[in-house]
This record gives sequence, structure tokens and C-alpha cells, in this order.
Amino acid sequence: RGAAQLLQMEVDSKDLIEYTQVIIHEADRLQTLVDRLLAPHRRPHVVGDVNIHEVCERVRSLILAEFPRGLRVVREYDTSIPEFRGDREQLIQAVLNIAHNACQALADRITAGDAQLVFRTRIARQVTFGKQRYRLALELHVIDNGPGVPDSIKDRIFYPLVSGREGGSGLGLTLAQTFVQQHHGLIECDSVPGRTDFKLLIPLP
Ligand SMILES: Nc1ncnc2c1ncn2[C@@H]1O[C@H](COP(=O)(O)OP(=O)(O)O)[C@@H](O)[C@H]1O
Ligand SMILES: [Mg+2]
Repeated sequence: RGAAQLLQMEVDSKDLIEYTQVIIHEADRLQTLVDRLLAPHRRPHVVGDVNIHEVCERVRSLILAEFPRGLRVVREYDTSIPEFRGDREQLIQAVLNIAHNACQALADRITAGDAQLVFRTRIARQVTFGKQRYRLALELHVIDNGPGVPDSIKDRIFYPLVSGREGGSGLGLTLAQTFVQQHHGLIECDSVPGRTDFKLLIPLP
């Protein structure tokens, strides 16, 4: 933003000033967006009954629209999982960010035609996380057969601005983590070359 302001003072042409104003305006808009996304104490705003399989199906259709060929999405759903109170849109965004990363990591396999993404749901019993014990929790795994998370960033992938991709923002997993934490849950990652498993845990009523 600052550089665009300096540039604006240097140029005389009206047309060019219009361009610098676009840059300044967009920089402000993106800053607002990032502030809003990363604000740590945002509560789930649209709370309703969430069906996790509806969330998965929505993500699946968004992913298949973007990667229509070369990718198989396997669903292994435990349909006995009850609905829970939460923000459906936030959870769609969280799962989408995870699945989207997987698809980016799967680029070569998508080209080769043997990329696979698995959505698996399970009920976990008597689990402890976030220093609390829960009788029932939902476990959602998003598993891909891509190359795995690079070792150099493995222990930092949930931190903001950590990216292993050219042009990546490093915000996708931070945001996913924030949204899941707002449901008193957490995300874990287990990755080796050929199998990367992101596990979401969310307490059930
Ligand atoms: N399924 C995956 N397979 C391999 N690497 C992954 C996977 N998911 C995430 N990563 C790594 O974690 C990094 C951080 O992801 P993210 O927070 O979404 O930021 P971004 O996608 O903008 O880089 C990615 O750049 C990638 O290097
Ligand atoms: Mg991402």
C-alpha cells in the first residue's frame, strides 16, 4: 500500500493515478479480509444443526468441479453420526481448504489419472483433546495419495503464512484450524510420501 501511495505522488498522468488507486483500494480490501479471517475470538456466527456428510458432499462437488478428470473421491461415511450444533459454512470452508491442498499436492497424479482423495467419517469414543475428555467425538479423515507434506514445514503448517507452494498464502490451514477450534475441535496431520491424512476431531453431543 505504501509503495503505491509513493508511486501515486510521482506520476502525473490521470490514467496512471487511477491504477495506483486501484492498488491502494485492493490492498485495503485484502487487509480487511485477512484481519477478519484471522481475528482469534470470532465465534461461530450462523449456528444450526450440522450434518457432517452434507458438508463433505458439498466439498466433494466443489472439488470435482475444479478437478473433473484424473481424481477419484472415495466416501467412507458412517451414516450413524448424529448432527451437532455448529456453523455449517465455516466447516465447509475448513474441509474445503484441506481438500484443496490435497488436490494441489496431487497435481502430478491427477495428470497421470490415479489421484485419490478419501473422505472417511467415524465416531470416536472416550477421547481426550484440548485437555478435555469427550464421551463422543466425530472423526473426519481427509486422505490423499500425494507426495506428502514437505519435511521442512511439517511442524509449522498450521501457522499463518507458512506455505510450501509457489504463490501460496499459507492461510488455508490456519483458517481451517481456527474454524474447527471454534467448534471445540482440532485438526491433526499425519503425512508420509504416498499417504497424507488430515484428521478433524469435533465433540458430539
Ligand atoms: N495434503 C497435503 N499434501 C502435501 N502438502 C500439503 C498438504 N496439505 C498442506 N500441505 C502443505 O502445507 C502448506 C500450507 O497449506 P495452507 O495453509 O493451505 O497454505 P497454502 O495452500 O496457501 O500454501 C501447503 O503449501 C503445502 O506445502
Ligand atoms: Mg491452501
